[in-house]
Amino acid sequence: MINKKDLLDAFAFRHACKVFDENKKISTADFETILETGRLSPTSFGLEPFEMLVVQDPVLREKLKTFTWGAQKQLPTASHFVLYLAKKSPLMHFDSPQLADFMRHVQQLSDETIAMRKNILKNFQEKDFAINTPEKLEDWAGKQIYIALGNMMSSAAMLGIDSCPVEGFQKQDINQILAQDFNIDTEKYGICVMCAFGYRLAPPMREKTRRNMEEIVKWY
Ligand SMILES: Cc1cc2nc3c(=O)[nH]c(=O)nc-3n(C[C@H](O)[C@H](O)[C@H](O)COP(=O)(O)O)c2cc1C
Repeated sequence: MINKKDLLDAFAFRHACKVFDENKKISTADFETILETGRLSPTSFGLEPFEMLVVQDPVLREKLKTFTWGAQKQLPTASHFVLYLAKKSPLMHFDSPQLADFMRHVQQLSDETIAMRKNILKNFQEKDFAINTPEKLEDWAGKQIYIALGNMMSSAAMLGIDSCPVEGFQKQDINQILAQDFNIDTEKYGICVMCAFGYRLAPPMREKTRRNMEEIVKWY
């Protein structure tokens, strides 16, 4: 187990890195470890509603840059750049055949358990969380992605690696690039968030600012 000081040091080390050192590349072993912490992250019902695209091709990065105002310096300098895609309604609706396939082949559930889970999921999507529209289902998938994203940034920091999460982009345009240049079926997948990983070129420009603990946490 990691000790408390090292843990908090890693969280203090992590900041939204704006420019990376182009000459420093994350080792394959380190980046595979970061990806593994994303893969091992929890998801609602264990449905893993996302995929990650690691974009290393400078031409593709340049295309993304046109519509990604939030990563103008990160896109060209990051050692690794990840697009997080949310699985959309055709893959996430409780009645989707692909979802049943996932339960059978990945979760290794029996037909009987799958039928039972489908029912719970139907109730969850239609009533409990009332997310039974394509937009809401995509948002629900997105919520799971942010857990993996957070875990990946934290584990990167624990390895002394910097990161920057990126929401500063035009969704529609990025989805169009995904269809045109990445051969992604955008009926089934949509861009959710991005993240740059690498090594900082310079120290953070600003000190971290946060509210006091008392303003954030209430005890009952
Ligand atoms: C979901 C999300 C999206 C973000 N999008 C961007 C972005 O597009 N570009 C950027 O430079 N920073 C982005 N940030 C970084 C935040 O501005 C930053 O985390 C926040 O100001 C706190 O600073 P710190 O991370 O350095 O502690 C994003 C952060 C999160 C969590």
